[in-house]
Amino acid sequence: MSRVNSMDLALRARAEAVIPGGMYGHQSVALMPEGYPQFFARAEGAHLWDVDGNRYLDFMCGYGPNLFGYGHAAIDGAYIDQLRKGDAMTGPAAVMVEFAEALVGQVAHADWAMFCKNGSDANTMALMTARAHTGRKTVVLAHGAYHGAQPWSTPVPAGTTPDDRANQIFCEYNDVESLEKAVKQAGDDLAAIFASPIKHDVFVDQQLPAPEYAAAARRLCDQSGALLVVDDVRAGFRLARDCSWSLVDVKPDLSCWGKAIANGHPISALLGADVARKAASSIYVTGSYWFAAAAMAAGVETLKLIRETDYLEHTRRLGLALREGFAAAAARHGFSLRQTGPAELPLIMFDEDPGLKKGYAWCADMMRRGVYLHPWHNMFICQAMTDADIAGAVEAADGAFAALKAA
Ligand SMILES: Cc1ncc(COP(=O)(O)O)c(C=O)c1O
Repeated sequence: MSRVNSMDLALRARAEAVIPGGMYGHQSVALMPEGYPQFFARAEGAHLWDVDGNRYLDFMCGYGPNLFGYGHAAIDGAYIDQLRKGDAMTGPAAVMVEFAEALVGQVAHADWAMFCKNGSDANTMALMTARAHTGRKTVVLAHGAYHGAQPWSTPVPAGTTPDDRANQIFCEYNDVESLEKAVKQAGDDLAAIFASPIKHDVFVDQQLPAPEYAAAARRLCDQSGALLVVDDVRAGFRLARDCSWSLVDVKPDLSCWGKAIANGHPISALLGADVARKAASSIYVTGSYWFAAAAMAAGVETLKLIRETDYLEHTRRLGLALREGFAAAAARHGFSLRQTGPAELPLIMFDEDPGLKKGYAWCADMMRRGVYLHPWHNMFICQAMTDADIAGAVEAADGAFAALKAA
């Protein structure tokens, strides 16, 4: 399968000169299989086109923001209308209140909303709110969980100091005993327990939250006066039309949102319960673009679609069809897959695959067949995907498994 990539290679060479490392952060393809395109020309619905014109069915969805399809007419229309009226102005537009009302109306634990730009901002605001609320320092987090890329949270500590990452105690996700031990270690200094809604750490199988783990986190916060934070930046509104821990019947005090809440337009949010309102209003947090109105208008339109369409049922159904199709195709060629976590957030790993060699080779072949997959990060199903898209991906998978077996 030949594939043109000369434009991509030329851009990478130019980028080497003017961008440190040629590219940085989570969208760098440095750790992706060889040949993955770095630069894209456009996106529409469920598809992406790289700068060389190759088209892909995109199971990364921008790493999460694309929930209703790239370039969604109603969402982008609302964005453009507000952009024409005013965006980053000297003060917020009325739509800020409208968006906060929509989120508070949608998320059961939330009584208020504050807006920012990235999921990292929302998590940092949650940390500050919890410390302001309790007057304490220590936070309990799960090993391997991602809460953003600020000095206190980045998984790669280059450029940070031990002080930046002080007052953190780690436990194992879904392990009640280890959570209790971490809370005990925090003693009377516990400000917050942070929880991912599911275990969606990179390189390892995903796990749904054990109801007893979520209940223990709630109980330990209630007993100590600490705040419970659910980081729904990645999974938010993809598993429920509410906070993802509504599925295990636990209400956090704070939840962090971003990515899909405005279908890719730049905005994130910290939502909170009344208990944390005073603390949230005491911290000083802001940014030049945090109050820009156009992304809020896009968010209002996105929330309308969350309320009024069957996107959740659709993405779940397609996710399950993809999972079944891939499992059957793999089995036909003698491979066994581990497809873990919720079907709407697929993660596909090969059994008996040290070094992820099979996964890398298979994903690279799928990419050449026009299906953009990720070998070690969970993926996303979007509302713009169709049954035909899933059938096409399964057919491509059949060919890629056959090729892998022959290799
Ligand atoms: C669970 C989770 N929290 C926080 C973040 C950080 O969000 P952002 O990249 O918008 O800062 C991410 C981003 O992938 C995430 O998945």
